[in-house]
Amino acid sequence: MDRKRTQKVLVTGGAGYIGSELVKNLLQEGFQTIAFDNLSFGGESLLGVWGHPNFRFIKGDLLNEAEVKAALQGVDYVCHLAAIVGEPPCKKYPDQARKVNWDASVRLYELCEAAKIERFVFASTCSNYGKMAARDTLLDEEGVLNPISLYAETKVNFENYLLGLKDSTICRTILRFSTVYGVSPRLRFDLTVNEFTRDAALNKPLLIYGEHFWRPYCHVSDLANSVKIALLSDKEKVANQAFNVGDTSQNYTKKMLMDEIKKVIPNVQVNYHPVVTDPRDYKVNCDKIKNILGFTISKTVPQGIREIAALVQNKVISEPLSVKYGNV
Ligand SMILES: NC(=O)c1ccc[n+]([C@@H]2O[C@H](COP(=O)([O-])OP(=O)(O)OC[C@H]3O[C@@H](n4cnc5c(N)ncnc54)[C@H](O)[C@@H]3O)[C@@H](O)[C@H]2O)c1
Repeated sequence: MDRKRTQKVLVTGGAGYIGSELVKNLLQEGFQTIAFDNLSFGGESLLGVWGHPNFRFIKGDLLNEAEVKAALQGVDYVCHLAAIVGEPPCKKYPDQARKVNWDASVRLYELCEAAKIERFVFASTCSNYGKMAARDTLLDEEGVLNPISLYAETKVNFENYLLGLKDSTICRTILRFSTVYGVSPRLRFDLTVNEFTRDAALNKPLLIYGEHFWRPYCHVSDLANSVKIALLSDKEKVANQAFNVGDTSQNYTKKMLMDEIKKVIPNVQVNYHPVVTDPRDYKVNCDKIKNILGFTISKTVPQGIREIAALVQNKVISEPLSVKYGNV
């Protein structure tokens, strides 16, 4: 049964892969929920919530100050997810990436101050850790941030901006998301688990670079849930804090992912290539969010693989190779 809450939440990037899942989650929790998005990837992701009495959509661009200012009227909490997401699009559109992920994000925060917003949750990324110094160390929130892409650089800069504010009264929380997988209203197939599983399910041979490189993974519905938990937690626990989001058990190398995929799709053809195309290599400790906020995951990587494999094998998605499931 849906609950009732009085607070109004604005989700920037609310039509996106994680944002559309978050909007669903917040509506279930009873929040008045506004999705603010310029619909770079379309708006079909919002069809499932469109008629909901507590849902509102604002088509707006983060780069348009007047639109952002108007959207913040009467809002209590802001979840900032809109961004140029991932290294390939940031590399392809560097000016846009700097403008959205940095300039417009700072301006958004200043407008939140003026609008007397109570809480601000920022969707950051574990990509900020870049490359582990020691291969056997799990990186916790005290770990050194080592951005090795423009994408991570913009995220680290905005994290530092938020954490460095001295006089702001807004309760600011940084969530460093693990790499996402799983089904959401805006599906993406350009993320490791989803992409490898899709290709295997389509009987496409896979060529994998950097097979021994580690990453933490988390299901999209669990990430959405972490944002809700941050909004509902006591301010003393979340104010001016960064949390890795995921579960410490969910660090995998690409080779380990393929081993799991083989259990579901035994005939998959895979070749490993010695060239390293993406130097990111990090294992993350997610115990802080579990111990302080009580966050736990509901799905694991093997479950996510089965979820995506079933989706593709049953042809639920008519054109799984379409570019619309990617961000470039
Ligand atoms: N997908 C991941 O693995 C991952 C991992 C860590 C962190 N994150 C972070 O989570 C957030 C959401 O990621 P996602 O995977 O849902 O990405 P996404 O690309 O699916 O969603 C981003 C949304 O932001 C919107 N947007 C982009 N620029 C905008 C602008 N100028 N004005 C208004 N709306 C704009 C897009 O239309 C899109 O709907 C991002 O901040 C991302 O950096 C994602």
